[in-house]
Amino acid sequence: MIETPFNYTGSKFKLLEQLLPVFDYSKPYFVDLFTGGGSIYTNVIDKYQKVIANDIISDLIGIHKNLTLDDTIILETKELCPGKNNAPGFTELRNSYNENPTPSKLWALLLSSTNNMMRFNQKFKYNQTYGDRGWNANTDKKVESFVSHIRQYKDNIRFTSKPFDQIEISSDKIMFYCDPPYGRIKNEDGTMGKKQISEAGYNAFWKEDDDKKLYEYLLKINEKGSSFMVSGVLNHDGNTCWMLDKLISDGFKYKELNFDYNKVSRKGTKETTEVIIYNY
Ligand SMILES: C[S@@+](CC[C@H](N)C(=O)[O-])C[C@H]1O[C@@H](n2cnc3c(N)ncnc32)[C@H](O)[C@@H]1O
Repeated sequence: MIETPFNYTGSKFKLLEQLLPVFDYSKPYFVDLFTGGGSIYTNVIDKYQKVIANDIISDLIGIHKNLTLDDTIILETKELCPGKNNAPGFTELRNSYNENPTPSKLWALLLSSTNNMMRFNQKFKYNQTYGDRGWNANTDKKVESFVSHIRQYKDNIRFTSKPFDQIEISSDKIMFYCDPPYGRIKNEDGTMGKKQISEAGYNAFWKEDDDKKLYEYLLKINEKGSSFMVSGVLNHDGNTCWMLDKLISDGFKYKELNFDYNKVSRKGTKETTEVIIYNY
């Protein structure tokens, strides 16, 4: 399995072994609707005729796309990384990104940020703090194995950056994999609550009615005869995710995944159930 060089928050790399056997390989096309660090499209690209990789963060998609083309973004990002013991350099890079964003600046920020986590404020300005880290030998290794794999398939991938509901469900021949930001919780009376089940730095891009829109989008995929798999946290710290719970009570198939988030969670003791739900 290929690990992408982003250490992306919420990456499904550790769950791949459990996801790969469940995708619907009878469809010729695959859509990774919420690409993030790209661990999913990267590891199914050899199994589908065409793959679309989509994410709302256009500079993130820019990083993926540029890496399939040539080494320019690698050289630029290495040059832009402020390195260790250089907080002023990080602040300068962050300001520069917020004034004039580019994919290589975003990648350099991601590599230099606290916990390698990207974070945006409500105005979509990058606001994560300096993590006293940067490009290292491990990054070189991961980049090398990622690009030598992905460039073989570059003609089969289309990169797009749109809100998920603008991706057309054009036929019954598509396998959609959906790994959205953490969804909103369910109230005691079954209605959708205000709070998101957990926090991530890209939750700023998730709008108030997106849970409902995604639920409806998944039903449309189903009606069209295409396949979907959605993954996410069903229960966390005593809360239940409204959308996942609703899909399960609608009767779609689901599986609990085996992943101990407590190992990586800073809070340490909160119980989490991660599931996949699918319509085939
Ligand atoms: C949980 S992450 C996906 C992680 C990915 N599967 C991986 O393995 O790295 C969710 C992604 O959804 C993206 N996102 C947030 N709102 C979106 C929207 N409305 N439409 C499309 N993508 C969105 C975020 O930028 C984030 O990268």
